[in-house]
Amino acid sequence: MVKKAGDTKKKDSQMNSVSKKVTDTKTEDASVTDDIRGAEYYHGLVPRQDAEAILKREGDFLLRKTEQTPGKVVLALSVRVQDDLCRHFMLNLDPATNKFYFETHQEASISDLINWHMTTKTPLSTASGAKIRRPMERSAWLINHDSIVACKKLGEGAFGEVFLAECDSGGSKQEVAIKTMRAQASREHRLRFMKEARLMRKYQHKHVVKLLGVAIHEHPLMIVMEFCPNGSLLAHLKKNKVEKLEKLRFTTEASDGIAYLEKSKCIHRDIAARNCLLSAKSELKISDFGMSADNDDVEKIYSHKTDIWSFGVLVWEIYSDGSEPYPGLTKIQTRAKIIVNDYRMKMPDGTHPQIAEIVTGTCWQKNPEKRSTMDAIHKKIREFYQSENKK
Ligand SMILES: Nc1ncnc2c1ncn2[C@@H]1O[C@H](COP(=O)(O)OP(=O)(O)O)[C@@H](O)[C@H]1O
Ligand SMILES: [Mg+2]
Repeated sequence: MVKKAGDTKKKDSQMNSVSKKVTDTKTEDASVTDDIRGAEYYHGLVPRQDAEAILKREGDFLLRKTEQTPGKVVLALSVRVQDDLCRHFMLNLDPATNKFYFETHQEASISDLINWHMTTKTPLSTASGAKIRRPMERSAWLINHDSIVACKKLGEGAFGEVFLAECDSGGSKQEVAIKTMRAQASREHRLRFMKEARLMRKYQHKHVVKLLGVAIHEHPLMIVMEFCPNGSLLAHLKKNKVEKLEKLRFTTEASDGIAYLEKSKCIHRDIAARNCLLSAKSELKISDFGMSADNDDVEKIYSHKTDIWSFGVLVWEIYSDGSEPYPGLTKIQTRAKIIVNDYRMKMPDGTHPQIAEIVTGTCWQKNPEKRSTMDAIHKKIREFYQSENKK
């Protein structure tokens, strides 16, 4: 929520100045005047880190919205000023004139102001000398809220709901799934949400859910992704009598997707049957990147080797028809039992012995170094699946 102008404390006046003007329009997301919402260089709530990645050359710039504190909306102009340095300038509104400015020069509209700085080559601030040259257009993966119509709730996410929706991309309508983020979510959760989108964006693989775009100009923030009509693997395993060969296929496809993530240096950290989805043709897709990280920014306890361990538990879930792993134990008890007593679950009756051997002999090795790679595991499983499939 944007605070009413009268609530604003003096020292915050700069930060809130932009939202002040437009509170009288009564829209919740009031900081963005219509001329800016339509501007190609306006990137909505794109986080600072992502903005900097878009700005490649000196003078590249974009306009974005930040919410340092919930309810306080600020517009920032991000500019690359050197090869290795970007700067971010808050947009100000002078309450006396009701005009916008960065340092001194004022204009009645934001787009006029930006245009003025660009054409006159006047730095945004004298101290920084930062000049703006090239507006960076937002890419097609930034989707407008207007083009998305939610149809049906599909599930409950940790930070918001997941819906089936219709997405209108230039006249052609497409069924998509949207994962939403509650407006009240903390800044940290919002950043994690954006990170999920940023990570997913990089991946293109038949066994990884495809990201189509994000809608981040308004609340709720949305991740727009490929719709998987057959829902989660966990629900499917519980509801249906799944044949042994199909279980092997799920195992193979999951290992394929995770091997791809390993190759892409992505640690998923939440591999489980509830986070695998099924396409219309029942192909398995690894999903839910809410916990994932590039392998250079993860704390030491997670690695590709912990994903391999979790893959073993996922295989156990598949062959046990979606049972709860480590039944009756809390997470802490489970961990203690595994570490202190060297406890391992028994693979369910009916597990292909070759698969059981991979899970217990490789994935659940105490020493992570002995866990092989997902690539090697996938190749082994695929070969076995192909021989079984021919029978
Ligand atoms: N692309 C999708 N297609 C169909 N259903 C989905 C899709 N994404 C999520 N869901 C449904 O929403 C649930 C929660 O999604 P998930 O990404 O796992 O959220 P969270 O990060 O909160 O765990 C899933 O278990 C599934 O039922
Ligand atoms: Mg999940």
